Amino acid sequence: MKEVFFPTPKSKHGRTYLFQSDNVLGEGVHCKAFEVYDISDTAEIKDLKLSEATVSLTPLVMKLSKSSSPNQRKARIQREMKLLKKFNHHLNFVQYVDHSLRLPSPYLVTEFVPHTLDDLLQQGKMDNEMIWDYLIQIGLVLETIEQRGIAHGDIKTSNLGYDPDSAKIKVFDFGLSLSYDHKCLMKLPQKREGIYYPPEFKVGFISPTSDTYMAGRALELMLTGYLTQGPDSVQEAIDNIELFHDLTLPDSFKNILQGMLDPNYEERPLPQELRVMVNRAWEEIGTENIFQSLQYGEVRIPTGMSWLLNLPKSKY
Ligand SMILES: Nc1ncnc2c1ncn2[C@@H]1O[C@H](COP(=O)(O)OP(=O)(O)O)[C@@H](O)[C@H]1O
Ligand SMILES: [Mg+2]
Repeated sequence: MKEVFFPTPKSKHGRTYLFQSDNVLGEGVHCKAFEVYDISDTAEIKDLKLSEATVSLTPLVMKLSKSSSPNQRKARIQREMKLLKKFNHHLNFVQYVDHSLRLPSPYLVTEFVPHTLDDLLQQGKMDNEMIWDYLIQIGLVLETIEQRGIAHGDIKTSNLGYDPDSAKIKVFDFGLSLSYDHKCLMKLPQKREGIYYPPEFKVGFISPTSDTYMAGRALELMLTGYLTQGPDSVQEAIDNIELFHDLTLPDSFKNILQGMLDPNYEERPLPQELRVMVNRAWEEIGTENIFQSLQYGEVRIPTGMSWLLNLPKSKY
């Protein structure tokens, strides 16, 4: 099949990007993300082949809105761009590179992150080290979001990148974020239903600790490949972790999970408190490789919770 590439119109910074319309990295309800290359300094783009174009160029990501209204597309991109720029130079957040608000196809360009936590889960590559990288960074991530006067509103494994070179978690997708500068409950524009979401979303409110709950759900998924539901879900999550990893969870770790997943938003730890709890657990157990998967046939392998391999794509 012939590969067809499209150069974009010049961006805000006067750059031109090359993308292939069927090379979609990922897609949510509102947006599509493509792998793209900045070809502004490449003299000849006619007849360019993928290999020639990309060998020496750094991959980037272009996000396009899927809204059918051009003005809505522009508003969405503009909004996300402004939110993303609040996290410039913070390495736990995907970095803004460029954008264009030109109709009909406004776009946002960001750095490329090699993996999402979701991909790693589905490839059976989640391991003890990544769990701790996540835990140790998540308090700071939540604190940074809060300090910028934002609730991310959609923390989940498909919106969390991971760069193995720097071992950094990278937050992306501010498409459902809300700004607020007071530390209280706020009405959501729409009720949000979803297995990842905290109970307050289902009644139409977002709290300063809603992101913490979702980060706890991501942790549960990373450790079990599954999200429990119902009144005893936290205890079931703990049981699942103990069963899948063949261990008794130390209280310091249970406290983290119980705190993050508390159905009452007022009881969840603040980011600073979460950091203290994680440090305590790390000091107690971090150096032991406790999160190992018990494989079929009782064979322990040190990395890769590969029973998760066959999870359906984007189940959550
Ligand atoms: N910077 C990035 N690097 C690598 N993959 C990305 C990047 N941004 C987005 N993606 C991929 O595209 C998917 C959709 O992008 P996202 O920003 O989450 O938009 P949506 O609003 O559509 O969910 C992500 O889940 C991820 O798989
Ligand atoms: Mg997303």
